Amino acid sequence: MKFKKKILSIGAGYVGAPSMVMIASKCPDYKVTVVDINVSRINAWNSDQLPVYEPGLDAIVKKTRGRNLFFSADVEKQIQENDIIFVCVNTPTKTFGAGAGMAADLQYWEKTARQILENSQSSKIVIEKSTLPIKTAQAMERILASGNGDVTFDVLSNPEFMAEGTAVSDLENPDRVLIGSRETQSGLAARAELVKIYSHWVSPEKIITSNIWSAELSKLVANAFLAQRVSSINAISALCEKTDADISEVARAVGTDSRIGSKFLKAGIGFGGSCFKKDILNLVYLCHFYGLPEVAAYWESVVKINEYQQERFIANVLQSMFNTLAGKKICVLGFAFKADTGDTRESPAINITRKLLAEHAEVVITDPKALTNAAMDLAQDAGKIRYVEDPYQAAAGCHALVIMTDWDLYRNLDYRKIYKSMVKPAFIFDGRNIVDQRKCFEIGFNVFPIGKPALSRL
Ligand code: UDX
Repeated sequence: MKFKKKILSIGAGYVGAPSMVMIASKCPDYKVTVVDINVSRINAWNSDQLPVYEPGLDAIVKKTRGRNLFFSADVEKQIQENDIIFVCVNTPTKTFGAGAGMAADLQYWEKTARQILENSQSSKIVIEKSTLPIKTAQAMERILASGNGDVTFDVLSNPEFMAEGTAVSDLENPDRVLIGSRETQSGLAARAELVKIYSHWVSPEKIITSNIWSAELSKLVANAFLAQRVSSINAISALCEKTDADISEVARAVGTDSRIGSKFLKAGIGFGGSCFKKDILNLVYLCHFYGLPEVAAYWESVVKINEYQQERFIANVLQSMFNTLAGKKICVLGFAFKADTGDTRESPAINITRKLLAEHAEVVITDPKALTNAAMDLAQDAGKIRYVEDPYQAAAGCHALVIMTDWDLYRNLDYRKIYKSMVKPAFIFDGRNIVDQRKCFEIGFNVFPIGKPALSRL
């Protein structure tokens, strides 16, 4: 079959692969290829055991793979053969040199730009999809413009807003698609190419176009605003615990104001995931760089409150369990940074588990999808932790349950059965406010929610 256009994604991670799967599914007239230097990841995408767990993704991959969706490890050949290239490589926070701990590490990004330049015999559209600091497109353009001039490149910014666990529905029904370009003739033509792709399934009013810098900055700001809501409600949860207010009631009352809205107001042990902290720190770094220390401090406080929320949580566990955890068995229910994903990047559970171990607790971790990642995150503590998939077996013989992830599964466990199998007095620290706390208290547990009075007999 002759395809209208050939599209490539460099990077087969959580962003690149699902986005391309959706494009392949919605645009059968386009050939879509995903490449990655990580051969085992590509092999996994070509197998029945996909490397990313996303509800609904398997079915679409099965439908499109081999039809107009292909996974390959031959990065250079694919660059040569494709006209439209999405760059979806990872941009972790720098761990060294200037901006360490804050700025984005752009080495993979720059390497990719050079690789595109070296392997292009025809002009191409290059689209940044990874979240990047503002002005990265400019750096990209400079590298791409350093060639001999026959081959030209248009760089677009098309940040991805999908969330993990809901990637398929977010990609299928996005709130908006954002496309930033240079406002030159060729920039606008490149923009129109990309609009054409999304128009296969996204209605025109949801496709927002802007200049390239606005598009880059909007992604950082969207994540910063979302994270800020979580930190705002978590900050208030601390106040609720000191008074007789209940954070769920406060969130409901506040969120019904249509100007505020009800989403992202769930108090818990803080946000995790690969984006929020990284993007805010990136924003903070940019503010410092442009001489705006007050603005930097404002956004940095969102991350500080997130850390504070975890400190508070662990201090509460320690204090409630008579100021010693040494030798006590603690069952960590959930390790993923949120429900419906096996991803544990920046999961609050990592930090909290380490703190439990530092108190010499014996930790048992259970999670329906994230145990392999958990074991990698905690590799240096191997031997001190047990990983048990079945939550009932994990909880048996423990002194406390510490709920870290809002898996639906944990709402409906047979807590009576679990209580019977635990050491008494038995504790639940509900870091996500998901169990029926009153019922658990009646069963016999001492229940410590977030942002509400404890239900305890001690
Ligand atoms: C986020 C953005 O939502 C997405 O648009 C962007 O593309 C990538 O970053 P993601 O990291 O997948 O997506 O997860 P998200 O659902 O936003 O949750 C982030 C964290 O905040 C999770 O740890 C979650 O548990 C926590 N959270 C979220 C709360 O604690 N309370 C809430 O009310 C909402």
